[in-house]
Amino acid sequence: MIEKLEQIRLEALEKLQQAKEEAEIDEIMGSVLGKKGKLTEILKTMGTLDKEKRAALGQASNAVKKELEEKIAQSKAKVAEAMLERKFAQEAIDVTEPGKQVLPVGRLHPMTQTYRQIRDALVGMGFTTFEGPEVELDDFNFTKLNLPPDHPARDMQDTFYINDKVVLRTHTSPVEARALMELKPPFRLVIPGRVFRVDEVDATHSPVFMQMEGLVVDKNITLADLKGTIDTFVHAVFGDEVKTRFRPSYFPFTEPSAEVDISCTICGGKGCRVCKNTGWIEILGCGITNPHEIENCGLDPKEWKAFAFGIGVDRVANLKYGITDIRLLYDNDARFLKQF
Ligand code: DAH
Repeated sequence: MIEKLEQIRLEALEKLQQAKEEAEIDEIMGSVLGKKGKLTEILKTMGTLDKEKRAALGQASNAVKKELEEKIAQSKAKVAEAMLERKFAQEAIDVTEPGKQVLPVGRLHPMTQTYRQIRDALVGMGFTTFEGPEVELDDFNFTKLNLPPDHPARDMQDTFYINDKVVLRTHTSPVEARALMELKPPFRLVIPGRVFRVDEVDATHSPVFMQMEGLVVDKNITLADLKGTIDTFVHAVFGDEVKTRFRPSYFPFTEPSAEVDISCTICGGKGCRVCKNTGWIEILGCGITNPHEIENCGLDPKEWKAFAFGIGVDRVANLKYGITDIRLLYDNDARFLKQF
């Protein structure tokens, strides 16, 4: 009997050692200590033994029972801990794992990118941003800029009239007049904004487009300052290989006036459809500000000189990205805009 007891004990201990789940342990416990368990069965036979043997068996089986109960409790604790560890491992979050991209990331419109590049180049030369209204007084859009009513040069820009005195500005130049009247010179301004002209929509025309005006007011302004400024931002936007060319022109608000061409970025200056085989493309108008404009805005033209330029941002964006139809810039087709 004692041997059998020892066998039951060893067997149970080994099984407990290997048990991985609480249910397994319960089963082992039942098979040994339960109502029909092996140890219980042995105890049931005690009545048939004589007194001495009975006492010895009683003692031995109590010891085994106590030992097994302790081991079972230990095993249960071990299994519970292992389970907790497994659960933690499963639920662990790797905080270094890169996130999933759920929403598509937006990007800046090619015109905004172009505008910012020009602006940043000018800000690097000490310019600050200044803005004016899109619905503008005729007086600022034309008269103050040396274009009095009935001046034939008003025909250069086909204007949307709100009434006799109010227009949709045809260029950003009226903001020059506002700045000259409001600010204390010297100053350097970059003036971005929408402008409007009565034009049929086609590949090179839009009734709404974007300009950027530059205005520098100081005591000793020369044409060299103007040329250096324009050269600097053109190279910042298009790269050093692109050439600039100043061509004499006419604007009522500048004297002398010029238009600036850059070597065609599509064909590199060899001649193509975009540059109409000239190798050059116009990007802006500029000049030394006419003393009449300075005087019209309340400053003494003998004391203050200025130069100014007006850039067609659409034109520059098209050249920079090789876009041949201005309408693409305004259609807001995501498939097109995604490319920039
Ligand atoms: N405002 C002119 C245009 O829209 C461009 C321009 C701007 C010419 C400023 C200039 C100037 O001479 O100083 O065509």
